[in-house]
Amino acid sequence: MISRCCYLLLVVITVADFCDGGVTSRFVRKLQESRDMPLDSDVFRAPPGYNAPQQVHITQGDHEGKGMIVSWVTVDEPGSSTVTYWTRNGQKRSAHGRITSYKYYTYQSGYIHHCTLKNLQHDMKYFYEVGTGGNTTRRFWFKTPPEVGPDVPFTFGLIGDLGQTYDSNDTLTHYEKNSMGGQTLLVVGDLSYADRYPNHDNVRWDTWGRFVERSNAYQPWIWVTGNHEIDFAPEIGETKPFKPFTHRYHVPHRASNSTSPHWYSVKIASAYIIVLSSYSAYGEYTPQTLWLQDELPKVNRSQTPWLIVLMHSPWYNSYADHVMEGESMRVMYEWLLVRYKVDLVFAGHVHAYERSERISNIAYRVVYGGCRPVLDENAPVYITVGDGGNVEGLSKNMIEPQPEYSAYREASFGHATLSIRNRTHAFYNWHRNQDGYNIVADSVWFHNRIWTPYSEILPSLK
Ligand SMILES: [Fe+2]
Repeated sequence: MISRCCYLLLVVITVADFCDGGVTSRFVRKLQESRDMPLDSDVFRAPPGYNAPQQVHITQGDHEGKGMIVSWVTVDEPGSSTVTYWTRNGQKRSAHGRITSYKYYTYQSGYIHHCTLKNLQHDMKYFYEVGTGGNTTRRFWFKTPPEVGPDVPFTFGLIGDLGQTYDSNDTLTHYEKNSMGGQTLLVVGDLSYADRYPNHDNVRWDTWGRFVERSNAYQPWIWVTGNHEIDFAPEIGETKPFKPFTHRYHVPHRASNSTSPHWYSVKIASAYIIVLSSYSAYGEYTPQTLWLQDELPKVNRSQTPWLIVLMHSPWYNSYADHVMEGESMRVMYEWLLVRYKVDLVFAGHVHAYERSERISNIAYRVVYGGCRPVLDENAPVYITVGDGGNVEGLSKNMIEPQPEYSAYREASFGHATLSIRNRTHAFYNWHRNQDGYNIVADSVWFHNRIWTPYSEILPSLK
């Protein structure tokens, strides 16, 4: 019996430190640097055929989930912007899109097609063909989300800071093989890392589009802009921020009365997803702030109980990288998220994993003082999943001791899933790349802030 207890104690000491906060996992699962996959990798291969559509990707095309934006690139000539789509027993229908293109320094993009399919049926498998009438067409399929409702189950995937390294490929494969079955991926910014190449070599935007097509052509990815989407390079005459991203990735921002593709909302099943931009103005009276102030009171938690906010730069981060970068936005917006009882906030940017307790730090005013994260049943849980596997590698340095508000942190590449079961409960998992596909490294049942507003986590805060 004694030896069994010693063994258990040893196991606990091996995986975790005892400290002021929650769990710091010390297991370093990736010692080598992350390397970009070379340009001739099979995952980057262009499809065969003259002017074949490539980089096919989809995202939700309206506010309710009855629309889908289908996008792709052709390189030989403009070709057809038509998408033909049908259900298993239904008639074929067609939608016609538009072409855009852009120049970035010496790079000239291909012909970028965006076509919105409207008035789709909920919860239905659609087959679709891109480039109908052109020289080469390609076929894919997707499933529309179920009709919005308070107890509609739905599973989201979460990936941040993906890049295009061997580790990125591991992360995407683990997401694809995860038996939780993510139906829509929430991408919390930093996509291709093309800006790390000389003159922001936009060829790397193309390779990234071909790399993720295997998932992104079959299920919607919801886009958040990160710092690697800014592509602001005045030294080479590129002074329009977000130029490659905004040409390549269209989002349904107008459907939520947003004036910018960098902040918007979508309803999916029982969730209301709000996308914010860490790299657009968020001061008082700015467009993003006015939009958010108008948006939050509109969320009907009887229809969509789960209120989820996505951003790139985390507000709560106990790694040594990007310290305080999210602080100014936190000061501006945190009180709003607490007031409207946001359930969860997901961010990336820091290349590691961290989950907070349910906390807020909104008491501070210059004249009163008092500034400390405290347990708050009205506040969100903050989760950083910037661990997609990009070329910049893991953030291994942590601030010690672990802050009280930090429930779990680990410097490993991976992804997360959020499986909403009904209006009261959602099952959340984080997966490491080094584990088997169905191994869960961190797991919590979240309780909805409106329908079951009691604590779900053993608090480490006093
Ligand atoms: Fe970032």
